[in-house]
Amino acid sequence: MNLKDIRIAIDGPASSGKSTVAKLIAKDFDLIYLDTGAMYRAATYIALSNNLGDDAAQLIALLKENPISFGTSSEGQLVYTGEVDVTHAIRQNDVTNAVSGISAIPEIREYLVDAQRQIASHGGIVMDGRDIGTVVLPDAELKIFLVASVEERAERRFKENLQKGIETDFEQLKVEIAERDRKDSTRQVSPLKQADDAILLDTTGIGIAAVVAKIESYAKEV
Ligand code: DC
Repeated sequence: MNLKDIRIAIDGPASSGKSTVAKLIAKDFDLIYLDTGAMYRAATYIALSNNLGDDAAQLIALLKENPISFGTSSEGQLVYTGEVDVTHAIRQNDVTNAVSGISAIPEIREYLVDAQRQIASHGGIVMDGRDIGTVVLPDAELKIFLVASVEERAERRFKENLQKGIETDFEQLKVEIAERDRKDSTRQVSPLKQADDAILLDTTGIGIAAVVAKIESYAKEV
């Protein structure tokens, strides 16, 4: 297998370091990076801004009219719905706290999983999410399941939020992360779950560089 064609699936709970790690691996190996969580967040943003509740048909119609796309800037990846830049809006607390509900709707998952498979159809991709190894790309060449303690994940998210200027209460953040884990792991359709053939990596107390190096060495073995 040529490294430039590899499909790497990185799944795990909220703030386990998936996106940071996935971006670095994509850069090192010159692969596409797809943040599937950003797609569920963008769908949630559309649902909230149009007061759709959990009306899947209306949400899908709006997603078709305003497709989710990605761009790049010097500050990193940009996310659009139609022409609108929603990069910052989709990280706000209202979206974060509503996204588990929207991502539990089967029709929405079906629609976004289709879009994700299309993007991955030529290979050469690192995708991070909750169901990449189990549902989106069950035949991915390398599957990683990243975990870390709730305490450490809350610390990481707290620092990230500070940098982005989003005000957060640390204790509340811990409660919200644990609650999102619970919802994401117990939903009926494609719950957060380690694929049988995924490699489990606990990143508690381990620096990003070491995690990246480990995954890259697995990728080279593939
Ligand atoms: O990775 P994130 O925290 O930005 O993801 C936001 C939410 O999207 C997460 O709580 C669950 C949902 N999600 C999902 O259901 N399936 C994915 N593949 C990615 C994210």
